Amino acid sequence: MEKLRILLIGSGGREHALAWKIRQSPLVKDLYCAPGNAGIAELAQCAEIKAEDIHGLLKFAKGKKIDLTVVGPEVPLVAGIVDLFEKEGLKIFGPSQAAAQLEGSKVFTKEFLHRRNIPTAGYKIFDKSQDALSFVEQADYPLVIKAEGLAAGKGVMICHSRQEAKDAVKQIMEDKVFQGAGNRIVAEEFLDGEEASVLAICDGERYVILAAAQDHKRIFDDDRGPNTGGMGAYSPAPAVTSDMMKLIDARVIEPTVRGMAKDGHPFKGVLYAGLMLTSSGPKVLEFNTRFGDPETQAILPRLKTDLVEVMLAACEGRLHEMALEWDPRACVCVVMCSGGYPGKYETGKKISGLQDAAAQPDAMVFHAGTMKSGEDVVTAGGRVLGVTALGNGIEDAIKNSYAAVEKIRFDHCFFRRDIGARALKKVHA
Ligand code: AMP
Ligand code: GLY
Repeated sequence: MEKLRILLIGSGGREHALAWKIRQSPLVKDLYCAPGNAGIAELAQCAEIKAEDIHGLLKFAKGKKIDLTVVGPEVPLVAGIVDLFEKEGLKIFGPSQAAAQLEGSKVFTKEFLHRRNIPTAGYKIFDKSQDALSFVEQADYPLVIKAEGLAAGKGVMICHSRQEAKDAVKQIMEDKVFQGAGNRIVAEEFLDGEEASVLAICDGERYVILAAAQDHKRIFDDDRGPNTGGMGAYSPAPAVTSDMMKLIDARVIEPTVRGMAKDGHPFKGVLYAGLMLTSSGPKVLEFNTRFGDPETQAILPRLKTDLVEVMLAACEGRLHEMALEWDPRACVCVVMCSGGYPGKYETGKKISGLQDAAAQPDAMVFHAGTMKSGEDVVTAGGRVLGVTALGNGIEDAIKNSYAAVEKIRFDHCFFRRDIGARALKKVHA
């Protein structure tokens, strides 16, 4: 078989981990990334095209005779990049615009889950702020208020009082802090439990489930402070025992893949189920329709199977031929971010110690918001690096990843010191 030219879209830690994994495939000849970052540039030829510029990306893919395009972030998926590429006969790994509604519209998802009897929090949908405001007057608290559309992970507000809920409704529906993403809201029951991320690669009808991971959404240790894109992750997730995984498969993944196919929106690509493991079983908090960030940085180092083969099989509707093999070791990813994130932060800070960090045992440094400035690598975003390491068990993986973190310096650098602590407690319990 002729070797492949691959285009990867995105610029985060997730995409660096994908580039790292794609590069290991003997099937691959050339790897391009748009737009990429300083770390990805060592593995791929980067092109300055934004991930949202789906027509620019199509032109590039045609020009370079790309055999397979892999989409990292959600925005181009929700904008219909897969439909656009497929109409032109190009192979692309990701869901159609219709299937990407599972991430793009929380209203679509809640209605789908309800119709298909898939467990999720009880909810109500509002398209008028007046109705939402009268509902929150008599609701039970805590109450969760969500903007319907994409809001870069910021559209979910956990409200502990009537006043907080009223403020949330006003901000989303009247002040339009998330623009059109807030035309409708979902008000839903607060769920208690441990969160887990379970990702499945799907071909429209069949799927293979990846090793489970857990994210750390809050900015500060002990899960305090505002939500972020994710401050660290580990895999495997001790909370997802093999019995729990069977339940998640039977109650969530299988009926979702089957339901989407029945509804005429067969799901191809990565179905990411964000779950709350409650005392009455796993419930869906949200779906994403792409690889998670930072979960991917903790999952892919454990995947022994050639990811390119799996993604090709998904695009060609032959996932039944694939079985995934996993490294039994644990993997931990610690996100190093710019001080101030998820609020305002400065960029352009010189990063030192990258090579020392990567030379630590079983460590990998995945770049997120970085760029080259002359000979230096400098910060260029909120989440800057995903410092990742394998270990024999979670304790070892935590030790190895923090040993690598200690080698890295940049001004106003911030990271959580308790990534993996919850898993460790569970293992020792
Ligand atoms: P989402 O973007 O819907 O996953 O929400 C972001 C985060 O908000 C989740 O990872 C949870 O930590 C939290 N969250 C969302 N929905 C609920 C809920 N119904 N109950 C409790 N926490 C929630
Ligand atoms: N880690 C959460 C996400 O990828 O959306």
